[in-house]
Amino acid sequence: MTAPEPAAVRAGGEGVTVRVPAKVNVQLAVGPPRPDGFHDLANVFLAVGLYDEITVRPAESLRITVSGPDAALVPLDSGNLAARAATLLGKRYEVADRGVHIHIAKDIPVAGGMAGGSADGAGALLACDALWGTGASRAELLEICAELGSDVPFSLVGGAALGVGRGERLTPLEVDGTFHWVFALADGGLSTPAVYRECDRLRAEGGPAEAVPEPQAAPAVLEALRTGDAAALAAAVTNDLQPAAVSLRPSLADTLRAGTEAGALAGLVSGSGPTCAFLAEDASAAEKVARALRDSGTCRSARVAAGPVPGATLLTA
Ligand code: C5P
Repeated sequence: MTAPEPAAVRAGGEGVTVRVPAKVNVQLAVGPPRPDGFHDLANVFLAVGLYDEITVRPAESLRITVSGPDAALVPLDSGNLAARAATLLGKRYEVADRGVHIHIAKDIPVAGGMAGGSADGAGALLACDALWGTGASRAELLEICAELGSDVPFSLVGGAALGVGRGERLTPLEVDGTFHWVFALADGGLSTPAVYRECDRLRAEGGPAEAVPEPQAAPAVLEALRTGDAAALAAAVTNDLQPAAVSLRPSLADTLRAGTEAGALAGLVSGSGPTCAFLAEDASAAEKVARALRDSGTCRSARVAAGPVPGATLLTA
């Protein structure tokens, strides 16, 4: 099995544009906290067709602009993974002129548990790599991604993959067909570290950390992906962070209920939330669930998207 490769290149004038998908976790198994503060995971990622587009152009210095409905929520400081990606790549490959204007056309929910920040990191990395012609290998790019954040390597690779360690060590997974999803977007984000901390706190109430099992990929999840069986996947999806996300944002329970009452095969919090993901039988069922969610008053909006889709892709003119 090989990871999906970038499909195409669009370089407008001196600029390079990369399109990067969001992700949903169809299984997120979380181990006890490690000494470094992270948690070992068995993280089954699926890339879905909601995209950010990152365009880079030569500039006097590093500059970031963002467009899209959630643009104001994107951090423009050193917490911006696109800026960190450009800086890391430029330093590592000793790029002389590493001033760059990074524009993010944002469509992935911000702080929503859909790897929007990671997508921007992977996108900026691939775009700057093309702009500067660094000649970095795929393995080197993946190494930089892992330095940027646990979910960033998957944003580069896309498709479907099992992530272990912090979630950064990936094995591509075979998927037959397409899964149809509805994403219920919430007002405001949730902090990923806060959700992990809440997960640890809830577990500590339930017993000692040693009682938390080693995270392992569920054979039923992998088999459902392999056979493209939406009903089987619906029966197998799990997210160990869900109780923590719901504890911090109790209204998510109403959103999850509204989606399943509307006919979704399954509903779960996406990653650390607060976006809720619903698996539907097919594209028309997904549209129906999305309409019901919009009418339910339990979310800000609802979007449909299917996956798997390829990871960060250079776009052609
Ligand atoms: O790797 P990343 O910067 O995306 O992680 C953000 C935060 O999420 C970490 O600082 C940590 O609090 C939490 N995290 C974790 N275990 C992981 C991944 C993330 O505890 N495997």
